[in-house]
Parts: sequence; structure tokens; C-alpha cells
Amino acid sequence: MTDLIRKLYETQTLEKDELISLLNCSADDAEELRRLAEQRRIESYGRDIFIRGLIEFTNICRQDCYYCGIRKSNKNCERYRLSGEEILACCDEGYDLGFRTFVLQGGEDGYFTDEKICGLIESIKKAHPDCALTLSIGEKSRESYKRFFDCGADRYLLRHETADKEHFSKLHPEGQSFENRMRCLYDLKDIGYQVGCGFMVGSPYQTDECLAKDLLFIKKFNPQMIGIGPFIRHKDTKFKDFPDGTLEMTLRLLSIIRLMLPKVLLPATTALATIDPRGREKGILAGANVVMPNLSPVRFRKAYSLYDNKVCTGEESAECKNCLSRRIESIGCRIAVSRGDSLNTGNR
Ligand code: 5AD
Ligand code: FES
Repeated sequence: MTDLIRKLYETQTLEKDELISLLNCSADDAEELRRLAEQRRIESYGRDIFIRGLIEFTNICRQDCYYCGIRKSNKNCERYRLSGEEILACCDEGYDLGFRTFVLQGGEDGYFTDEKICGLIESIKKAHPDCALTLSIGEKSRESYKRFFDCGADRYLLRHETADKEHFSKLHPEGQSFENRMRCLYDLKDIGYQVGCGFMVGSPYQTDECLAKDLLFIKKFNPQMIGIGPFIRHKDTKFKDFPDGTLEMTLRLLSIIRLMLPKVLLPATTALATIDPRGREKGILAGANVVMPNLSPVRFRKAYSLYDNKVCTGEESAECKNCLSRRIESIGCRIAVSRGDSLNTGNR
């Protein structure tokens, strides 16, 4: 197995079968994998960890992803949307705390027309011209993506969720198609965004083969950012009885991704922090180099629940930031006050 790990380190890729064996390696091998991934992270980005201020601005969604707690048909979800002023106030507060990237994340909420989104982008960029703005608002037409980009949006996060078409159809209702998801990702890249894709680890019906396909897709797509975290069941979804994804598998995948794409921006996600009290730190030690604390107003945080028991739903942003700095310093890293653009210029 050490041969495979060496090969991955040196060539930055593996065959599908080799990836599948690596996913099932021993704990000792996983430690070797982690060690090399940490080394790669330091080679690429030093000891800097980048922070992104996450603003969950609406939990109203027209989509019905089976795994997601804010899906359209969840009648138990208390819905909210933030006003433009509230969103700007989150950015102002975030700026004072040292954030230089804001992520506007929301469900696919028809209230937010292209005009409204463009208005938000323009006012945030005007207030904070030295900041990067990331959108994470789902599947849109190429024209909409282009408009947002032309208004000043820099980056876009849209997890591909799974690179296996059949698996995709088990996670989503008919009408949400694998082809459209892929179309969105390629459009975003083509328009010139820094793009993030990603998937859940341990989602229902996922096999090792699916994961190997995810890794090979990511290698081919060569995005600037990759979001992965464990699947965590939500009580009001039809996946409520499926097991959660594991810490160990998520960490292995983070390390493999760091070795496949040395310069990618890779967050230690909130979902990882939710399944383990030191999940963020463990994620960074496995190769992650981004954290995305919540800047949304505290009173809405619990309502944005994609999965159960989400962490950091009760703290003020400032408390969150302090606790995060301490955690990151405890593992020998530091928070960078910068936009934290990717060193991967991609094939843009
Ligand atoms: N567990 C973990 N992650 C989830 N997401 C949605 N629902 C869940 C869940 N139950 C992830 C999806 C989505 C991102 C915003 O959150 O991958 O793309
Ligand atoms: Fe739309 Fe989850 S189904 S955000």
C-alpha cells in the first residue's frame, strides 16, 4: 500500500482500482497518507488557513434533494430570508473580524431574481471592494451565471454531489438531472468563475466505486475549490434512517484530494465539525486549508439545517471567530486575513 501512496504523491493520480484499494487501507497507511497530504498543504500554502464568511441568506428552496433538511417538501422547516440590509450588515461585521471572502449561500429561492442577486453583488462589492464574493445558490441558466459574473461575483460553489449518474438519481427526484448539474459546472468554469464542486461522504447508496469516480471526475474537472463533508441524516427526510458518513473516510478523502490537486482550496466543513468535536482540526491536519464560519444572524442559524445537530448555531460570529483562531493556532497554523485566491489557475 505504501507504494500506492508514493505513486499518488509523485504522479498526483491513480487508477480507479488503485483508488478503491486506498480507500480501504489500514489505519497505519491512512496515517502515512495524512502525513504526506499535510506536507503538500504546507508546500502549497504554507501554514495559512483561509477563512470564508458564510451567509445563509435564505432557506427557501424549489428543489427537493432527498438528503437535504431544507428541501421543498419538508413542512417542518421554518422558512426565512434575510433582507439586503441584513446581508450587508453580516458582511460589515465579517469585514471587521478579518473576513475578505463572503459566501452567499441559499436555497433556490424564486424571490431572489437575477436582478435582486445582481443588486446584492453590486452593493457588497461597493462596500468591500477588496473582498471576494462567492455564490452558492444552486442550478441556474448560463445567462444568469454570466450576469452574476459580470456584476462582480468571483467564485461559485456547486457540489456535483456524485459523479455516478445512477447514484445521482437515487439522491434526487426526477426532474433534477445529473446532466444539468454537470452543464452548470462546465458553464461556470467557462464563464471564468473560480469554481468549487464536491460531494458528501457516506451518502445513501454510495459505493467505493462511486467515490473513486468522484475523485477521477474532480481530477479531470480541475476546480479551484472542493467541498466535501460527511453525510449526516436529517430527521425530516426520507434518508433519516441511513447511517452518517464517517470521520475516518472523510479524512482519507481529504488527504487523497490534497495529493491529487496540491493547490486546491479545500475546506474542513461544518459537517465534519458536527460529527467530531475536533473535526475541523483533524480536517486541516489531513490536508484541508479553508474554514467557513457562519456569519448569519444567530436567530436564523438553526433554521438553516441541512442536517441534524449542526454545530455553531448558538454563537455570535465574533465568538466563533475567536474560538476558531484558537483551534487553528493549536495545530500550528494561522488564519490569513486575505482573499485567499486559489493558486490553481485551472484551465480557464
Ligand atoms: N448531510 C451532509 N451534507 C448535506 N448537504 C445537504 N444535505 C446534507 C446532509 N444531510 C450538503 C450538500 C449540498 C451542501 C450545501 O450541503 O452536498 O451541496
Ligand atoms: Fe435546496 Fe437543499 S434541497 S438547498
